[in-house]
Amino acid sequence: MASMTRTRSGTIPSMETSGDEFKDNTIIVVFGASGDLAKKKTYPALFGLYRNGYLPKDVHIIGYARTKMDEEEYHKRTTSYIKNPTNDPEVAAKIEEFKKLSSYVSGNYDDNPSFQNLARHMEAIEKGYKIRGVNRLFYLALPPSVFVPVAQHVKVCCYATNGTNRIIVEKPFGKDLQSCRDLLSSLKQSWQEEETYRIDHYLGKEMVKNLLVLRFANVAMGAAWDKHSISSVQISFKEPFGTEGRGGYFDEFGIIRDILQNHLLQVLSILTMERPVSFASEDIRDEKVKVLRSIPPIKREDVLLGQYVGANGKPGYLDDDTVPKGSVCPTFAATTLWINNERWEGVPFILKAGKALNEAKVEIRVQFKDVTSGIFKDISRNELVIRIQPSEAVYLKLNTKTPGYAFRAIPTEMDLTYKRRFTDTNIPEAYEALILDAIKGDHSNFVRDDELDVAWKIFTPILHWIDGREGPRPKPSPYPYGSRGPKELDSFIEKLGYKRGTGEDYWPTTNVSSL
Ligand code: BG6
Repeated sequence: MASMTRTRSGTIPSMETSGDEFKDNTIIVVFGASGDLAKKKTYPALFGLYRNGYLPKDVHIIGYARTKMDEEEYHKRTTSYIKNPTNDPEVAAKIEEFKKLSSYVSGNYDDNPSFQNLARHMEAIEKGYKIRGVNRLFYLALPPSVFVPVAQHVKVCCYATNGTNRIIVEKPFGKDLQSCRDLLSSLKQSWQEEETYRIDHYLGKEMVKNLLVLRFANVAMGAAWDKHSISSVQISFKEPFGTEGRGGYFDEFGIIRDILQNHLLQVLSILTMERPVSFASEDIRDEKVKVLRSIPPIKREDVLLGQYVGANGKPGYLDDDTVPKGSVCPTFAATTLWINNERWEGVPFILKAGKALNEAKVEIRVQFKDVTSGIFKDISRNELVIRIQPSEAVYLKLNTKTPGYAFRAIPTEMDLTYKRRFTDTNIPEAYEALILDAIKGDHSNFVRDDELDVAWKIFTPILHWIDGREGPRPKPSPYPYGSRGPKELDSFIEKLGYKRGTGEDYWPTTNVSSL
C-alpha cells in the first residue's frame, strides 16, 4: 500500500510561525468571571482549547469578580454553558479536570487591596514553577464603566516584572470618535500596544479568516476583484431574535455601534484591502487601515433605519420594559459606504444588520456586473456569496446552458458548502481562535488602535445625528418582528444597482423538464 504520509502543501509561512508563545508558566485571569460574557463565551472557549490540547501546559485560570461565591458555585457557573449534549463520559471527565485548573478570587474593581490579594493568589501558584519567567494573560470580560480602573489596577498591582503580560479587552471601545480616543489614551497610560489585544470576535470566525486565502491565494478571484467587474457588495447580519432582556444596554448603543461599526466594517476591510506584503499582523493591519482611510464619513442619505414592532405573538422593541418609553433607537440599519480609491471607486458597499428578522444569517454577497449585452438578453448576474454563518459556505452563482436540446442559459451555483466538502473538521468558536492567538502572541486578528480611530471617523457623524446631537432624532421605520426588515429596504438596495436574480426559483435542485 502506498505510504499514507504525503507532503503537505498550502503553507502560509508568516501565519505558521508563532511569535512569543506562552508555552508554560501561564496564568489566565478572567475579570468579570460571574458575568454573562464569561459564562457564555470565555469559559466555553477556554474549555474548548483545553480539551483540544491548546492551552499552555500547567495553565491556571483565575476567575475574578465582585460577587462573593464559593468555588463550587464558581465552577457551576463557569461550566454551565459547556456543551455535552450526549453526556459523553470523556467530555464529562475533561470538564472535571478543567475545574481543577481554575480558582476564584472575589474583589472590587477599584481598590488596590483587592488587586494585591489577587497578586498574592497568582504568586502562590507561580511559586511551584520549575523554571523562571511567568506569563500572565488578563482577560477583561467587563462593562466599559470598569475597563479603565481594572486595567490600571492590574498594571499597578498584578503586572509581572519577571515575565510577559498581555491584556484582552472587548468592545464597546467608546461611543464615538472622541470617547474612543479618551478610552484608548487612558488604557495606553498603563498598557503598551504590543501587550493589548482588542477583540472583535468576527475576526475569529472561520470564514472571515478564510477571506485572506480566498482572495489572495486564487488568481481567478483576484482578477475580478474591482470596480470593473463588481457592481455592488452587501454584508448582512440577520438575527431572528430581539433585544429581549438586554434592551437597557442595547438602547444606549443601537445596532450601528453593536454590529456595523465593528463586526461588519472589519469584514469589509479584509474584503477590500490591497494584498499585504506578508501575512504578518502589522502588514495585514496596515492594509486594513489604508482602505478604511479611503472611506469618507457616511452621509445621511445613505442610511436606512428601522425598529421592530410586535408581530406573530412576539413583542416589539418598545414593549420591553428595560427600553425607555418612546425610544427611537434603531434595531435595524442599512448604510452605504463608498471607497475612494482606484480599485473601488463607484462601487457601493452596503452594510446591513437587524435584530428580530426572519432568519439567522451573516453573509457577504458580491454582485458582478452584467455581461456585455448583444448576444444575451435578461441573463442573471454572477454573484459570489460567502456565508459566514450558519453553515459556512462559498458559492458562485453562474449561468450555464440548460442541459438537453434547448439552448438557453439558466442560473446555477458552484457550491462549496463546508459540511459537504470537508469531513472530520472541528471549526473552533471565534473566541477559541482568538484566545489561542493571544496565547501565541499573534495580533493579526485583533483590532489596532488606528483601525478603531478610522472606523469611528466613518460612523461618528451619522451616530451624532441619530443621537439627536444635531437636531431632532431621525425616526426609524417600523418593521414586524420576524420580517425581512423595513419595507423601504428593497428600493434602498435596488437604487444602488442591485438586481435580484431569478436563481431562487431553481434552487437547490432544478427540474429541467419544468423549464
Ligand atoms: C455581539 C453583539 O457583538 O455580537 C450582539 O453585541 C450580537 O448583539 C452578537 O448578538 C452576534 O454574534 P454572533 O457570533 O452570534 O454572530
